[in-house]
Amino acid sequence: MFTIGNLSFSSPFILAPLAGYTDLPFRLLCKEFGADYVVSEMISCHGLFYKQKKTIEMLASVPEEKPVSFQLFGSEPDIMTEATKQLSEYKPDMIDINMGCPVRKVTKKGAGAALMSTPELAEEIIKAVVKNTDIPVTVKFRAGVTQNELNGVEFGLMAESAGAAAVTVHGRTRAQGFSGFADRKIISQVKNALKIPVIGNGDILTYQDGLDMMEETGCDGVMIGRGALGNPWVFTPEGRPQTISKVAAGALRHLELIENFTPVDLALGLIRNHMSKYFRDLPGSSKIRHNVFSVTSYNELKLLITELSQ
Ligand SMILES: Cc1cc2nc3c(=O)[nH]c(=O)nc-3n(C[C@H](O)[C@H](O)[C@H](O)COP(=O)(O)O)c2cc1C
Repeated sequence: MFTIGNLSFSSPFILAPLAGYTDLPFRLLCKEFGADYVVSEMISCHGLFYKQKKTIEMLASVPEEKPVSFQLFGSEPDIMTEATKQLSEYKPDMIDINMGCPVRKVTKKGAGAALMSTPELAEEIIKAVVKNTDIPVTVKFRAGVTQNELNGVEFGLMAESAGAAAVTVHGRTRAQGFSGFADRKIISQVKNALKIPVIGNGDILTYQDGLDMMEETGCDGVMIGRGALGNPWVFTPEGRPQTISKVAAGALRHLELIENFTPVDLALGLIRNHMSKYFRDLPGSSKIRHNVFSVTSYNELKLLITELSQ
């Protein structure tokens, strides 16, 4: 259907990077449910450069999740160069550069969506990353800086000429943060302007939404973020089951994968967060949510989800 470097993809559904969520177990889960490729949480170039323990732990991967893309963020071409060299040793199938994150912690250092206001620096970074790896490099950015500065098309053209193998466009501006809605017009404009694959992103909550975005914009694939949380069925045409027990069975599979790779008692907060999202809008969901947040150990949580699955 579309290719990035030597990789060819038969299904257009991709798991978006979500800091705090798209760790190895969740990526594996989404893969099992049909995501064609999956993207890691954003990885700090400084964390890699200084070999920080937390950053290195984020690079955990297994062959079953392939193809996988690891996402880098940073704003200094020389540090990004070193980080690219180190990241390449872990042999991800793609390296994505984050040029869309609007969170202050990232933009105050000139990284993420701040780079949409400094396209020359963004270009230097893309060229530096491309030059220092054999792995295909992709770029994820937004519709523009503000509604009055919708520079997504120019930014996409710049990324293409700097050597990006594909781009992802989140149809919101940096100024919008996560408010309002993703604009599909800009995604189709970027698609029409570029030769490389263009992946659309923003507000896809069902498989059909994804197909609709592709139809409306002509984009080659779609990336799903929040719509996949507690809902890996978003990658299947059938969608999420409507009974608590079937949903709990999916959540239980997620727990099994978590157990394989995570010190469960240390990560209880994170795991509760994932579990709380599975049951929304189902009968009794607020009580289940309350119970999920009331447990004080992983075993208690697993027992709760196991009982719901029966
Ligand atoms: C909790 C959270 C964490 C995110 N982390 C990242 C990230 O690490 N890198 C990135 O490029 N985008 C990140 N995003 C943005 C998403 O990848 C995606 O572009 C955005 O949420 C819109 O898609 P959606 O409506 O399908 O969620 C994050 C979004 C959320 C809500």
